[in-house]
Amino acid sequence: MEHKRWVFLLAIFACLLFFSRGRVAVLKWKTDDDSPVYNHTLALTLVEYTSAVYMSDLTELFTWTCERCNGLTKGFQVIEIIVDIEHCLQGYVGVAKDLNAIVIAFRGTQEHSIQNWVSDLFWKQLDLNYPDMPDAMVHHGFYSAYHNTPVRPAVLDAVKRAKKFYGENIKIMVTGHSMGGAMAAFCGLDLVVNEGYENVQVMTFGQPRIGNAAFASYYSLLVPNTFRITHDRDIVPHLPPFFYLFPQKTYHHFPTEVWVRDLSVLKIVRFGIEKVCDNTGEDPTCCRSVMGSSISDHLTYFGVELMCETWRQCSIVMGREVESYSRRDSKGNIFLSRTDPSTEVTETKTQSTTGVSSI
Ligand SMILES: *[C@@H]1O[C@H](CO)[C@@H](O)[C@H](O)[C@H]1NC(C)=O
Repeated sequence: MEHKRWVFLLAIFACLLFFSRGRVAVLKWKTDDDSPVYNHTLALTLVEYTSAVYMSDLTELFTWTCERCNGLTKGFQVIEIIVDIEHCLQGYVGVAKDLNAIVIAFRGTQEHSIQNWVSDLFWKQLDLNYPDMPDAMVHHGFYSAYHNTPVRPAVLDAVKRAKKFYGENIKIMVTGHSMGGAMAAFCGLDLVVNEGYENVQVMTFGQPRIGNAAFASYYSLLVPNTFRITHDRDIVPHLPPFFYLFPQKTYHHFPTEVWVRDLSVLKIVRFGIEKVCDNTGEDPTCCRSVMGSSISDHLTYFGVELMCETWRQCSIVMGREVESYSRRDSKGNIFLSRTDPSTEVTETKTQSTTGVSSI
């Protein structure tokens, strides 16, 4: 039954794609010469930050000792972890001294199976006016995940603390995968529009479309330093669908896409080719030039896994040693906070599994 539904949806999707392919000039985008340059090393670094946000052991995440808290992210100092139990969201804020940046990362959805989540994406409506941006429409679910949950206040507060402690000149980098990429985009925009921060950059991995063309053009003017990484045939960046016959009515990505393709030579060597796409957001020569139908391409970027160790079991584990940093709100959502990460959390191996719930 489930399988049939999936096949049916794929068939519809194929039809939609057939009608939505093609070249169309949608909007005139401002082109300036000092436009941001895509940085491959930074992408490799941020994908590791995005991978770590899927870890369920909050103690290891807070002390940055988790299995994925290594490599290019070594030495990261977490100052806030947010677990929204009610909506099954997770994110963190911290400081990467080597990047001279505050890094904010959001996890993708864990609510249902990934297949269900993806098939629901076909039907998402543009049903919310983005505040104070005439004609800009977005999907309320993506918007609300960031704006109408405990995530936003906790993120903003952590950014304020970090700026106070590390200086106003520190950059802000917002990242996330899948649904977390959608949240990252709304967060980056919020930091610019409502908080007045400068030097905000956003890099997302496999994010869905979140708004219409008007929204995309506001977004790209306000947060120009944004790169949207897409991986080969990842299905999610194709959703919700783009209808080129109705450019003003349809969902529309903001720029700049970077399409990473897998190429295998003699079926042995696999390597990625990156294509930095045009400034329309809907470059027909990038991921739109192929049929996006792959879930597995969605779950790894640059060879880095972007999911929990096991699906549906993103329960959280928290050791007693971080309890003094933690608080719960009335809905049971969990926050771990500190400002000065030099206050060492002493690691002991006695772990209590508090609040193990299937969230
Ligand atoms: C790219 O990002 C890395 C940090 O990940 C930085 O060290 C490097 O200087 C950047 N390169 C350019 C050309 O900006």
